[in-house]
Amino acid sequence: MSVLHRKDILRTDLLSDEELELILSTAARFEGELQAGGRLHNMAGQILATLFFEPSTRTRLSFETAMQRLGGGVITVADSKTSSAAKGESLADSARTVAGYADVIVIRHPRQGSAQEVADAVDVPVINAGDGAGQHPTQALLDVYTIQKETGAREGLTVTLAGDLKYGRTVHSLSHLLARFGCRLFFVAPAGLEMPARITADLRKVGAEIGETTDLVAAVGESDVVYMTRIQRERFEDPAEYERLRGSYVIDSALLQQAKPGITIMHPLPRVGEIALEVDAYEGAAYFRQVANGVPIRMALLALVAGRE
Ligand code: CP
Repeated sequence: MSVLHRKDILRTDLLSDEELELILSTAARFEGELQAGGRLHNMAGQILATLFFEPSTRTRLSFETAMQRLGGGVITVADSKTSSAAKGESLADSARTVAGYADVIVIRHPRQGSAQEVADAVDVPVINAGDGAGQHPTQALLDVYTIQKETGAREGLTVTLAGDLKYGRTVHSLSHLLARFGCRLFFVAPAGLEMPARITADLRKVGAEIGETTDLVAAVGESDVVYMTRIQRERFEDPAEYERLRGSYVIDSALLQQAKPGITIMHPLPRVGEIALEVDAYEGAAYFRQVANGVPIRMALLALVAGRE
């Protein structure tokens, strides 16, 4: 059994180097097997529960695709209004109930720390699919996998993370992994949406070189990869503040003219205007290939935590 057998996947900073390499290499193996037309049965007889108390297209459907590609079954809560959470059941009690049906639980919830709460309540492996403005570790893993495939490297790159760095859980998870690979990081955010100070402090402790700026043009001029994010409307208490900040940064053809030649453009999606549609035709626009990489990464995670890799 691997080092990840029966482990929870809650935060990227909790993954060891060995675990990280194992996830990436297992994903590459599964992707190769799928491309060769193989039919996989690693998770035959196993049930995955996907509990989504916040909206999702990519994360829930790619987890469910991953489980079905591995020959397993899926049960789901795709809308909290249709579960007993609507009757006031606690998250821990819901989790204990589902653990009686499923072998692995994937949870998305608006409350930071919710995945840890579920992991504390059950014995089956729990995978965090996004806990409020906390972390989104499986997104960061597929992001690193994408960077490696798109650039042919992952160490020593210069990467700009731009947009809502305060509430964007994907950048919280991804920055930990990029720092570990010795990437130089530019954080580009409008005033008020900067990367939380505790995260930049943690990253600097592990030796990360970080530049914080509001100048997206200058940052992309030096970057191998730009990772754009949406302003997270659902996290704002004041709708007027969201309206003031949305549209702060947009990647369009004019900006691409000033970017480092060959730059890779990524986005966890959904986009709501941060990347102009005209950019889709640029060969370095990797965001839909990035989405597809979610399947082999999530196949690897499911198989590894279930001990069926
Ligand atoms: N990237 C991401 O988490 O997308 P969804 O919200 O659609 O799952």
